[in-house]
Amino acid sequence: MFDETVLEARARAVMPVESAHDWWHVRRVWRLAQRIARTEPSADRRVLQIAVFFHDVMPKRAEGGHALVSAAWLADLLTPLDVAADVLERAADAINTHSFSRGLPPTSLEGAILQDADRLDAMGAIGIARCFAYGGAHGRPLYDPDDPTNSVQHFYDKLLRLRDGMHTAEGRRLAEERHAFMEQFLQQFWREWGQEQKEKKT
Ligand code: NI
Repeated sequence: MFDETVLEARARAVMPVESAHDWWHVRRVWRLAQRIARTEPSADRRVLQIAVFFHDVMPKRAEGGHALVSAAWLADLLTPLDVAADVLERAADAINTHSFSRGLPPTSLEGAILQDADRLDAMGAIGIARCFAYGGAHGRPLYDPDDPTNSVQHFYDKLLRLRDGMHTAEGRRLAEERHAFMEQFLQQFWREWGQEQKEKKT
């Protein structure tokens, strides 16, 4: 359908260098998105693939905060692939509504699948690994009751809430196991910390 090598090279060139959001995150999200898309026959695979590959890029001109990805910017990057303008617009729209912090509902099926797949990669064993890698890279403590930026707090602020925000049936199904694993991890974490769950921060 697309020359995936070109698509990948373009995406890798504009990815930030960070272990929680590296190219392998994109590969995992793409695998999850394809899995969800198989249960959603009306999803447009071209729109979805471009949206997934470029969902975590940082446009060079974006300084000071999260800029929105535009269809024109994507068109520039993907010139050799000659992608139709409406496909780029729909991919840009899916990217622009996917982030948890912006709190926007997806406006298309492809946007819903991207959100679900991206959030699934923040859950389960990989989600746990990414959470502590991100925290470490930003100098945050694993856990510190006096420092609300600690990584364990992030489970209660965000990661344990992802399951209930899934948009697709397959996303909900896949989220169950990952959610249960995070709960199990936290239970053991508190046991080792010597605190049981009584002071669980919610
Ligand atoms: Ni992502």
